[in-house]
Amino acid sequence: MPLRPFHLTSSKVHRPLSLAAERMQLTHLRDLFASDDDRVSRLSMELNDLYVDFSKHRVDGEVMELLYRLADEAGLKAAIEAQFTGVHINATEDRAVLHTALRSQEDLHVDGQAITSDVAEVKKRMQAFTEAVRSGQHKGYTGKTMDTVVNIGIGGSDLGPAMVVEALSPDATLEAHFVSNVDGADLASVLRRVNPETTLFIVVSKTFTTQETLTNAHAARTWLIERLGNDAAVNAHFAAVSTNLKAVADFGIQANRVFGFWDWVGGRYSLWSSVGLSIAIACGWSSFEDLLKGARRADLHFRTAPWQNNIPVTMALLGVWYRNYLKFSSHAVIPYSHHLRRFPAYLQQADMESNGKYTGRDGKRIGWASGPVIWGEPGTNGQHAFFQLLHQGTDVIPVDFIAFAAPLSGYKDHHTKLLANCIAQSEALMNGKTYDEVAASMRKLGKTEAEIEHLAPFRVFDGNRPNTVFLFPQLNASYLGMLIALYEHKIFVQGIIWNVYSYDQWGVELGKELAGRILPAIEYTDNQVDVFDASTHELIRRCK
Ligand code: F6P
Repeated sequence: MPLRPFHLTSSKVHRPLSLAAERMQLTHLRDLFASDDDRVSRLSMELNDLYVDFSKHRVDGEVMELLYRLADEAGLKAAIEAQFTGVHINATEDRAVLHTALRSQEDLHVDGQAITSDVAEVKKRMQAFTEAVRSGQHKGYTGKTMDTVVNIGIGGSDLGPAMVVEALSPDATLEAHFVSNVDGADLASVLRRVNPETTLFIVVSKTFTTQETLTNAHAARTWLIERLGNDAAVNAHFAAVSTNLKAVADFGIQANRVFGFWDWVGGRYSLWSSVGLSIAIACGWSSFEDLLKGARRADLHFRTAPWQNNIPVTMALLGVWYRNYLKFSSHAVIPYSHHLRRFPAYLQQADMESNGKYTGRDGKRIGWASGPVIWGEPGTNGQHAFFQLLHQGTDVIPVDFIAFAAPLSGYKDHHTKLLANCIAQSEALMNGKTYDEVAASMRKLGKTEAEIEHLAPFRVFDGNRPNTVFLFPQLNASYLGMLIALYEHKIFVQGIIWNVYSYDQWGVELGKELAGRILPAIEYTDNQVDVFDASTHELIRRCK
């Protein structure tokens, strides 16, 4: 077994962690700050110019020490090396997991095969195609320069590139659209806005069997041929990214427009591969390279930094602490950047498809909670929507705040307000506001004692709500690459501790299989529907 099973609740540190959790339930972050002048410097970390403030977490030195011991007990060091060196740690699919190789400068082998030159070769072809499209050397069927790229894919073949292109949109010189949903409204809304003569479609599908993507790709192809009047137009207007080169050829995309990748790149970890072609074409090759460079910095840090200074390891362990010891079941990610508005959705797939599992690496059901619900929206919009619950709801939800010191827009004043809000929310969640503080501020406003007694309880904030602040100098390709890679590594570490296989996704198969059975039942009038359960039967009957 390439990754040994780990039994969280039988580990040596489980009992001390459980006892520490009882103690921490009774401890307020205010007191932790009051009793420790060095708290911020001890619980903050830096990586290049990224500053991460972990000080507002419900931990003390002893808890952190226990959590780092947990990482040792789980064999994290060996697991990291196994991943980076191409061991088949995705055991249920018998695959290596080497998205890090796509941004590495090392010579790497998978199953005895040198892969570095394969990666370089695909990147060279991506770069050449990117530059041909961007320079206008590659033209559309009617001789016009491309000004729009439409990425057709779903899940990992959509969310990563869509999030990155949105994040780097100030650098984008080509218009980019992403079509993912099998609801035809998605494709229709994009086709309404693009010019067939100047649009390049990139069909992205690792398997090239995904129903949504193939349905959209065929429809886009038909639309293009209808508009340009000739099947031959497809050659100039379609490219594909896949590991299934045969299926791409069957679809009719010319071999020189097909960009491969490898089964050791998981879909939700694939934006670094040719899946990122739409990023390169929309934002430029150097932005794509910078993205890889930033991720490489995070990889090196993850692989070499001691646990006490290791940002993704600390993120992961705090997540385990909250999920398994303080029993919090969700985790919010709030980027204070409009350009990162797709980041929570991207992270939902990365995290929840990886660690939303109950079967352990030994094939047995795990006896503890695994991946939490990941969700979020950009600040400040979220503040005016769900922050009420973050502050005064009955569930405690740890929050990641992601902020950038420099503005991307020319509106400096907006940015100062944005940052002030981010820092204020972090502080408010941590400190809260006591009854006495509320009463004092109401007295200052001239309220009577009766009014105070009546209203103050509603205005009290418990605080003690943990959060991390990530402060980057600015949002650019390199810091974005770093941010994404830090979360990727966090997810990996948590999978090791929760004893799940983070790189498979068997849980999405059943729905696909059943949709395949239901489709003909809706499509054809003579199809038998009484093979379904009563509820499914009735829903199909009504759709028909
Ligand atoms: O259904 C889940 C999933 O398999 C994801 O893991 C993947 O990113 C997505 O579908 C798309 O798959 P493909 O790239 O093979 O079309």
